[in-house]
Amino acid sequence: MKGRNLINKISSGLKQFGFSRDESGKVLDKVGIVAGISDDGKTFRHSVGVAENFKKIGEFYGLNVPCCYVSGLLHDIGKSVVSSEIVAFDKKYNDAMYEEMKKHVNVSILDELLGGNFSFIRDVCSYHHAFQKRKPYPRIRESSFSGKRGKKVFLYAQALAWSDFADAIHRNDGGMASHSLIESKEKVFEENYPAACTVIKFLPTPI
Ligand SMILES: [Fe+2]
Ligand SMILES: [Fe+2]
Repeated sequence: MKGRNLINKISSGLKQFGFSRDESGKVLDKVGIVAGISDDGKTFRHSVGVAENFKKIGEFYGLNVPCCYVSGLLHDIGKSVVSSEIVAFDKKYNDAMYEEMKKHVNVSILDELLGGNFSFIRDVCSYHHAFQKRKPYPRIRESSFSGKRGKKVFLYAQALAWSDFADAIHRNDGGMASHSLIESKEKVFEENYPAACTVIKFLPTPI
């Protein structure tokens, strides 16, 4: 699907979720950053795939679906400050690449990119790699998920992590999934997100 079609799909998705024109405009401005990440549209297509996955999981678990959809669209926006060669790289990262890639879940960087309008989404996005068994970033600090808000962030971040990983795996992208070789998709998924295996059959085919 071409970039324009994706933007139209996102616009109608936002309209369907009841976002006002002004709110949609703000979201689309940010989505424009994702679309502009120079990796031939890979991150953009992936972000739309993650949004669609997250929407389905959100519907299944009774989460706030617009919030899921927008979080999916914006979850990798932090990649806009990562070197484009690394963003486009689809094999296992070396240590230096891994350090550089960490920036895309850095809270202050996300804050700057999202312009302070999306503090819940920022928190959810900052944890979308925290649940992986092998080399998670950032590492989980249990205390971050205490209190009502913390528990909610945990729930959404975990569902986002499933959505993200499922899309990366469908795309056979070892960079995005943080694995050198995706030999057995189901096995890798099961190892990282056992609970997600029960809902993953509801996920749509990625575009
Ligand atoms: Fe990511
Ligand atoms: Fe991602």
